[in-house]
Amino acid sequence: MTPDRPPELPSGLFDRLTDRFLAWRDSKVASRGFQRWAASFPLTRPIAQRRARGLFDLVAGFVYSQVLLACVRLNLFAVLAEGPQTVAVLAGRLSLTEDAAERLLAAAVSLQLVEHRSGGRYGLGALGAPMVGDTAISAMVEHHATLYVDLADPVALLRGQAKSTALAAYWPYAAYDKPGAFVANLGAEKVSEYSALMSASQPLIAEQVLSSYPLTKHRVLLDVGGGEGTFLKAVAAAAPHLGLMMFDLPAVAERARISLKEAGLSHRASAFGGSFFDDALPQGADIVTLVRVLFDHSDERVLMILKAARAALPVDGTLLIAEPMAGTPGAEAMGDAYFGFYLLAMGKGRSRSAADLTTLLHAAGFADVKLLANDMPLQTQVMVARPSAQ
Ligand SMILES: C[S@@+](CC[C@H](N)C(=O)[O-])C[C@H]1O[C@@H](n2cnc3c(N)ncnc32)[C@H](O)[C@@H]1O
Repeated sequence: MTPDRPPELPSGLFDRLTDRFLAWRDSKVASRGFQRWAASFPLTRPIAQRRARGLFDLVAGFVYSQVLLACVRLNLFAVLAEGPQTVAVLAGRLSLTEDAAERLLAAAVSLQLVEHRSGGRYGLGALGAPMVGDTAISAMVEHHATLYVDLADPVALLRGQAKSTALAAYWPYAAYDKPGAFVANLGAEKVSEYSALMSASQPLIAEQVLSSYPLTKHRVLLDVGGGEGTFLKAVAAAAPHLGLMMFDLPAVAERARISLKEAGLSHRASAFGGSFFDDALPQGADIVTLVRVLFDHSDERVLMILKAARAALPVDGTLLIAEPMAGTPGAEAMGDAYFGFYLLAMGKGRSRSAADLTTLLHAAGFADVKLLANDMPLQTQVMVARPSAQ
């Protein structure tokens, strides 16, 4: 986004002045003399230290992630949830030597995953405690082992030189970007792993969507790209009056059918199989939801999905989009760095800002686009729109 300019200044002059100032600032910040001064002067010391720490975290961040992976794989958080333990006990429980256990625990303490407790024992830290029993975060940490391989050469990825990526294989539908491609033929074995991962991480998202948009005024909800039906199950509990439908690739819809039946929802919920690029969406819903669907696809394809949703809705219907968005205040790194590169490794998708999505929504025949407030925009943002008058 371009910054707003005072209208009285010609844009060329304003840009030149801004560039000159920023070049001066950058040369100052880069100079060792200035860095030494800023680190010793009491007023700038905290800023200098914070910046140095921030830069080091960027340099070392991948190591921190691997420390977390080791904790998850060794089940450390579940073990500590039983109560604080000594290194000797933990070494036995984790099948590590005491030296190795001590090294892991020291690293985990520094990352606030673990805490020192009295008597030389270790307990859960502020960031480790939420990991206990949280299958969603643990599943993502494990899944990142795949992403880690793909990101080993980020420049090759950016240049499109990576012949194939592990994530493209993990999300096989991402490779089918021609209408009529046989994406709907993807077999059960190709969709089971990603569907299970999405289902495990869905409760965090459903909570945010349902707290920011009450469904009381709707009659029937259609969840498009609805995965195993986990979002639909949360909706069913929150809005007992609502009729429920979901649409996804046939092999995924079959998984949803089974899961909705197991949840005792067969009488309220129908699962439809097909491809939203090739098949019409089922009619009858007054609200269509697209939860973590659009960011997987190119703009051209997103337009196709939105037009399909438009065609499925009555004129007074509502479209709800929930996904992490680029440029989310306070969560910029999540949308732009994490999802930016995750989706690059996966295929054609990209994380979009609310403004990007608004442009696409208008082009697909929607109006009254609103970004709703929610407690955890880091996990997802929520937008609603209405069909525009034809
Ligand atoms: C990232 S997952 C999100 C699943 C679910 N909405 C959630 O948030 O847990 C995207 C979903 O879109 C589905 N999908 C991808 N391409 C599709 C297509 N052409 N037609 C229908 N569904 C598709 C996938 O099978 C997958 O279930």
